[in-house]
Amino acid sequence: MRPLIAANWKMHGDMNWNDKPDAFNRLLPAEQRRSIDVLICPPFPYILSLTQAAKANGIVTGAQDCHFEEQGAYTGSVSAQMVKNCGAEFVIVGHSERRAVGESDKIVRLKAEAALKAGLTPIVCVGEPLFVREDGNEKAHVEAQLKESLPQAFGGCVIAYEPIWAIGTGRTASSGDIADMHAHIRGLVGAGVRILYGGSVKPENAGEILGTVNVNGALIGGAGLEMESLAQIARAAL
Ligand code: PGA
Repeated sequence: MRPLIAANWKMHGDMNWNDKPDAFNRLLPAEQRRSIDVLICPPFPYILSLTQAAKANGIVTGAQDCHFEEQGAYTGSVSAQMVKNCGAEFVIVGHSERRAVGESDKIVRLKAEAALKAGLTPIVCVGEPLFVREDGNEKAHVEAQLKESLPQAFGGCVIAYEPIWAIGTGRTASSGDIADMHAHIRGLVGAGVRILYGGSVKPENAGEILGTVNVNGALIGGAGLEMESLAQIARAAL
């Protein structure tokens, strides 16, 4: 399956970051990465201009969230259709940083459904907190999240497994733990769905993580802000 290397910029960046796709392309030209997809998800205000810069460099763009309604009185929100209109192709839904501020599995599912309807590929995030893993309940936790947050027709979705205790902490799951969870998810969703790993992916561990069975790419936070490290991670997927 074609690997997806996805950078989630979170609330970082400014208009000057429009030069990042070009910088990435100089480090790893598009012709050298024909076998992988590279995605950057900037904050909403930068999607439109970044998409233009990214397209010229063979990179696709996405949003970090969307509303589940097409339009309406939802102050501060952005619909999947609006994201699509800006030229983006993906949207992350259910990231743990959004679930932490009250987003339920049901809301995540509605967002994923809205994304599919708008012609976007949703990246549906799941992952357990530390206490759940310490209790040995991580598979049941992730399975319940998937059951509730994936649309019924989930063939057009990407899944990102991101153990919460590994996000932004420098702590990664061991390749055995990743293989175990990804095999479990694969068993639930079947062969055609890309399953990304996320949580402190960096150049030093990208080779091992991306070489793990059933890992079809990575969702990268901190290390995706620097094009040098993003390119090194992408190289590990070639
Ligand atoms: P991190 O973030 O790579 O900084 O751990 C991953 C994510 O939040 O998707």
